Amino acid sequence: MKVDVLLGLQWGDEGKGKVVDVLTPRYDVVARFQGGPNAGHTLEFEGQKYVLRSIPSGIFQGDKLNIIGNGVVLDPALFKAEAEALEASGHDLKARLCISKKAHLILPTHRLLDAAYEAAKGDAKVGTTGKGIGPTYTDKVSRNGLRVGDLLHDFDRKYAAAKARHEQILQSLGYPYDLAETEKAWFEGVEYLKQFRLVDSEHEINQLLDNGKSILCEGAQGTMLDIDFGSYPFVTSSNTICAGACTGLGVAPGRIGEVYGIFKAYCTRVGAGPFPTELFDETGDRIRQLGHEYGAVTGRKRRCGWIDLVALKYAVMVDGVTQLIMMKSDVLDGFDTIKACVAYRVNGEETDRFPFDIAEGVEPIYAELPGWKTDMTKMQSEDEFPEEFNAYMSFIEEQLGVPIKIVSVGPDRAQTIERYTEED
Ligand code: GDP
Ligand code: IMO
Ligand code: MG
Repeated sequence: MKVDVLLGLQWGDEGKGKVVDVLTPRYDVVARFQGGPNAGHTLEFEGQKYVLRSIPSGIFQGDKLNIIGNGVVLDPALFKAEAEALEASGHDLKARLCISKKAHLILPTHRLLDAAYEAAKGDAKVGTTGKGIGPTYTDKVSRNGLRVGDLLHDFDRKYAAAKARHEQILQSLGYPYDLAETEKAWFEGVEYLKQFRLVDSEHEINQLLDNGKSILCEGAQGTMLDIDFGSYPFVTSSNTICAGACTGLGVAPGRIGEVYGIFKAYCTRVGAGPFPTELFDETGDRIRQLGHEYGAVTGRKRRCGWIDLVALKYAVMVDGVTQLIMMKSDVLDGFDTIKACVAYRVNGEETDRFPFDIAEGVEPIYAELPGWKTDMTKMQSEDEFPEEFNAYMSFIEEQLGVPIKIVSVGPDRAQTIERYTEED
């Protein structure tokens, strides 16, 4: 069997959690392959709302196996809080969730280092989620990290050495801190974590595939936040692109099947960094209000703007997207005119090729399309779509060269419409 991958194509928060939940019944396994509790994936169904951070979004649909892969970074304290809340609402996690022994641990001092580095950057700060993501991946790459599997053998010594090294850095930065409380919660998290099945997930996953099981990989963040291809240095510290599923799970490239690329009908970004189509006017405020564009985890205001087809085309290219999923279409229901960025003007020259740096001198060039001025939130099938909406989708499909197969018209699981072509 092949592995299908679902990826955010913008700057995160595209609605990945919702769609993974919708697609889960078609798969045997759902796996996270990168990122950590910087993610906030929202699911809504049967009047309930859940925000998942480290636990895959396949956890609510029947007895599917959910895997936290080796590419993920895990904070035991946050994991415990998240998992216990789900257990309290009647979801049996221990039977359905396993965790790679090779996933790296976010230590309490990683969170402090994240805050200390941000403070040291002053105005140039990234605006991270403050969850210790960067410092944990830094330790991984510099071969100083601690992994989930380390919890099972001689851990206290390894922890003390890492903590001492981190404290030296914190002291050299003059960053004040108090570890007592967070360390206590962290070690409680460690004991809780040990109750789960800690596995060599690359073996499990390949065995499952050999046995004909199907796997959906759930991306976190988005392609524009990728450490290599995103708007560096205003990015996260992992490979959010499709290839990240290979390294983050131990799946060979030839085993990748469908690549679902998910995007909002407009665009948002949270944290600092360039955003060519950002709107600073009342249209931006209107999108924020209608789309409830506030961070699922941090509550931070999300910056809003028009769809950026230059960046999306780039994302489709580096991810090898085979199907598109358009989210939050309903948010644009009331607009007279909708703009779509089709090219950038860079140093006076027009280009539709995503440039090395979008921080300076990039001016978006827009196409204008008529709005559909119709409430789409209760629609059940594509036959009900207004003509102008179909025209907006066709325009995007033409620009990106990939079909839009799913349209989301509201946050609920039920507000999801599949589109069918003659080949389906
Ligand atoms: P993720 O990080 O990609 O899983 O996305 P988030 O959960 O951070 O942000 C998406 C937000 O949009 C959540 O509050 C969802 O409940 C909401 N949402 C998802 N799809 C739709 C949609 O089609 N319409 C509207 N109005 N909201 C949606
Ligand atoms: P989901 O999975 C949106 C952003 C942060 C910051 C940058 C680096 O819910 O889409 P980090 O804490 O990762 O070092 O922060 O990345 N960021 C996200 N933005 N959605 C996310 O996740 C994000 N995860 C990180 O705001 O700009
Ligand atoms: Mg999110």
